[in-house]
Order: sequence, then C-alpha cells, then structure tokens
Amino acid sequence: MRLFVDTAVLDEIREIHQWGIISGVTTNPTLLARAAATNVKDVIVQICDLVQGPVSMEVVSTDAEGMIREAREYASWHKHVVVKIPMTEDGLIATRQLAQEGIKVNMTLIFNANQALFAALAGAYFVSPFIGRIDDISWEGMTLIREIAEIFRNDPNITTQILAASIRHPRHITEAAKAGAHIATCPPAVLRKALQHPLTDRGLERFLADWRKLQETGK
Ligand code: G3P
Repeated sequence: MRLFVDTAVLDEIREIHQWGIISGVTTNPTLLARAAATNVKDVIVQICDLVQGPVSMEVVSTDAEGMIREAREYASWHKHVVVKIPMTEDGLIATRQLAQEGIKVNMTLIFNANQALFAALAGAYFVSPFIGRIDDISWEGMTLIREIAEIFRNDPNITTQILAASIRHPRHITEAAKAGAHIATCPPAVLRKALQHPLTDRGLERFLADWRKLQETGK
C-alpha cells in the first residue's frame, strides 16, 4: 500500500516528503481553507512540482457541466492534478466524461460499496472511502475497504484504486493496508504518530549511552 499526505500546508508536505514515504497528496476545500491557501493554483502547482505524484484538487460545482468545466481547468494546471469529484448523479456524469477525456478523477465522499462500484464503472481513477467518518457513526470503516477490495478483485476490468481517506490514527493505516487499500491518505499528525514508538526512543537512548561509556573507557 502506498501513502499520500492529506493536507494543503506546503511546509508540512515539504517536511514529510523528505522522509521518502509519500507518493501523492490529497486536498479538499476544508484543507485548503485550513491552510489559508488564497492562491489555490499556486499552492497546487507547488505541491505537484515537489511531490511529482498525484495531487487531488476538488471541484465545488454541484452540476455536471460546472464540475467538468472546473476539472478541465484544474487538470490544465499540472500533469499531476487529479480532480476530486463528489459521489452524486452529476458527479458520475462528470466522471464518465472526464475519464473519456483522459482526466483522472478521484471520486470522493464514498460511504458504501455500491458508490465505489458506480465510481469505478464510470471511470474513476481513485475512489475515496471515508473510514473515520464511518467509524464516527458507529459502523466499521474498515469493513467498507474490505468489501470494495473484494468487489474490485472480482472484476478484472476494474482498475480503479482504493484510496482510504479520513484516516484518523496510526492503526487505521495498518488496517487499511491489510484490508486491501491501494493507498491511504493520512494527515501529517497521524504520520508523525505512526513513526514513533517508545521502545525505539528508549532503545536509541540506551545505544547512545553505551556508546558514550565505551568512548570514555577507551580514553
Ligand atoms: O481525505 C478526506 C479527509 O480529509 C477527511 O477527513 O477527518 O475530515 O473525516 P476527516
């Protein structure tokens, strides 16, 4: 499973990109607002140049015609832009058209397996099931990933990738990988938590202390 970072904050993307673990970025209107990205095009182009992998930029139109217009514009910004389209009737119409034009679509706000199947059949490049928001309503987000993975595996014509979104904690990353997600998009804070372990810290402290002792003995 690959990892994307779910933020529009350039400094955070720069920092985490150095770790060598992320191959794409997802944004949405909420994340762009949180990053106070007033020049959205500039931010998205900079992220694309840095990451050199898929960068999701979401439409805000709700009608198919508007979505298609926006999508063409965003796709013209950079070859790595993937257009995020919400799972609605108009979203499906737009996805089908954009797929025919060779514009990659990340179909977002996926909360059941049929929505994912419809997105795939319409030509979506990614589907984004929102794990954390399903957990929030007392269901099991990871069950959805498992169902979608099974459905996609059963149809060799489906090449759509499962992009697990709304990841809230490190365990979600592990479980998404086991459940068959192709990618998990994670907030920077979750990635930072996931790389830490108290035994790593304690082990490192001990190694360094023992090394210092050895140096002092040798003097
Ligand atoms: O990628 C979608 C993500 O940004 C939504 O996360 O935590 O708002 O449900 P959350």
